[in-house]
Amino acid sequence: MFENEEKRFEVRRIKLWGSYKPTRSIDKTLMATPDPSASTDSPPAGQVIDLQSIHKNYDMGSETIHALNGVDCRMEVNEYVAIMGPSGSGKSTLMNIIGCLDRPSTGEYWLAGENVSKLNDKALARVRNRMIGFVFQTFNLLSKSNALQNVETPLLYSGIGRRERRNRALEALERVGLGDRTFHKPSELSGGQRQRVAVARALVNDPAILLADEPTGNLDTRTGEDIMALFEELYSAGQTIILVTHEPEIAVRAKRHIHLRDGEVTEDYLVENG
Ligand SMILES: Nc1ncnc2c1ncn2[C@@H]1O[C@H](COP(=O)(O)OP(=O)(O)OP(=O)(O)O)[C@@H](O)[C@H]1O
Ligand SMILES: [Mg+2]
Repeated sequence: MFENEEKRFEVRRIKLWGSYKPTRSIDKTLMATPDPSASTDSPPAGQVIDLQSIHKNYDMGSETIHALNGVDCRMEVNEYVAIMGPSGSGKSTLMNIIGCLDRPSTGEYWLAGENVSKLNDKALARVRNRMIGFVFQTFNLLSKSNALQNVETPLLYSGIGRRERRNRALEALERVGLGDRTFHKPSELSGGQRQRVAVARALVNDPAILLADEPTGNLDTRTGEDIMALFEELYSAGQTIILVTHEPEIAVRAKRHIHLRDGEVTEDYLVENG
């Protein structure tokens, strides 16, 4: 499906990421394998994510579900990546691991040079708060709080004083074009505005990585376009962005595509889209 859709949106693959062939049938021996001896070294300059042989298993009594099946992947600062694949292929599982909401069953995850694969919940939450901004399909805003309070929330856990919290939240809302909606509750905002509040909340801690799992999934086409334009602006300003999408017209805005199937990376390439 993606192959045809890509033709439609004229995505031209310009370079393969890693060292495996651009064939549909994957020759595992050609896939980029991390050098195990390199894992204790500091990452190459600019590298922010290094996933090494990531597996995620869910034990369901008699059955074990292999949601991720040995994902190897590196991403650099200021990349703009779209993760695609069929339902159940492991996209959200991978995003949750990248976003430090969850840990791999086996494998190593190096985030900005720190091995975060085995951190306990508290330490993981600290890393998440410092490094990650998350945007969800369903916005996940606090319904009784206004836009400003919603955006301030992540700062509550950072030990930042009240005045600075407010200033930074205001700044983030300005950045997403919602400076005039600070006291509106989610129910008093449009879908696109709600998602922009969620983006402001994700940005307020100045995260190394902005993660978005189907950020336009609940928006109409035009509003989805607005959110994508905002992402493009953020990317141009240096933000690293990883998003999950089913929609080719959304994916085409990213600079690199990673395809998952049955918990494995089947394709990973840079695209020319401008
Ligand atoms: N907490 C869990 N417990 C058990 N199995 C799970 C759990 N979370 C995910 N899975 C399973 O892992 C696989 C990958 O799920 P995941 O949510 O990552 O897929 P996805 O690619 O995001 O799909 P979608 O496009 O539908 O959102 C699925 O088979 C799913 O049923
Ligand atoms: Mg999902």
